[in-house]
Amino acid sequence: MPPTRAIQIVALAVLTSLVTIAATGAYGSDPSPVYETRTPSGNGIGKVYMGREIANVMSHYSMSRLDRPGREREERTDLLVEALPVEADAAVADIGAGSGYFSFRVAERVPDGVVYAVDIQQEMLDEIERRKSERGVDNIETLLGRIDNPGLDEQSADLIFIVDAYHEFSHPREMGEAMYRALRPGGHLIVVEDRAESKSRSSGKLHNMTEAQARKEITALGFRWVRTESFLPQQHFLVFQKPASS
Ligand SMILES: C[S@@+](CC[C@H](N)C(=O)[O-])C[C@H]1O[C@@H](n2cnc3c(N)ncnc32)[C@H](O)[C@@H]1O
Repeated sequence: MPPTRAIQIVALAVLTSLVTIAATGAYGSDPSPVYETRTPSGNGIGKVYMGREIANVMSHYSMSRLDRPGREREERTDLLVEALPVEADAAVADIGAGSGYFSFRVAERVPDGVVYAVDIQQEMLDEIERRKSERGVDNIETLLGRIDNPGLDEQSADLIFIVDAYHEFSHPREMGEAMYRALRPGGHLIVVEDRAESKSRSSGKLHNMTEAQARKEITALGFRWVRTESFLPQQHFLVFQKPASS
């Protein structure tokens, strides 16, 4: 074969594989080109989304931290729960529910509704089930999510809230798209994250977010930013809405 023909064949093969990568998103080990990789920092996973390195997942071995006695006073979790816009018969999803700290408190606010407690760690859900039996609570449903999809039915939730968990989602784009589908039109998404702008929270490194970053990522999914509340001592309370006409 003449050398020019061989070069043409190699060039065509390279071009074909590049087109395939672009079309399927099969980029390296990650299926989606919306992510970049870098050397992981202290508590990061080395995966970058919209300029933010994603944090590692808090292990279920640290579960007791979520239920520490001083948490309500430190974080004013009572105010957080009160501020969630829910009716008594609402279907509410708590994504990244952990040990159910918020699921149980919100379940009291929706006595005629349901709380879907979603997590990717079965150990967290086992603990929620144990507490449900112990406390006689019957309006919480545990759901084992995938890292890229909480597994909620389309338009099954009136409200989705995420406390201290969004920054850990290893697939925030896919999770966000699935949450968008799961929310009924006009429904709200509440994202609560430690303020990365605050010097006192910098010890948490990637386990926090700036308001600007959270707004950038969530509005990119099609949600409308409604407002950011600052009544919590350490966290942003961001309110988004799925457009009523979608
Ligand atoms: C720091 S804990 C917060 C738990 C709870 N929201 C609270 O504030 O008490 C974060 C939780 O998010 C969960 N998580 C991380 N990625 C997730 C994903 N893609 N889908 C659902 N849960 C996820 C973790 O397993 C962990 O239980």
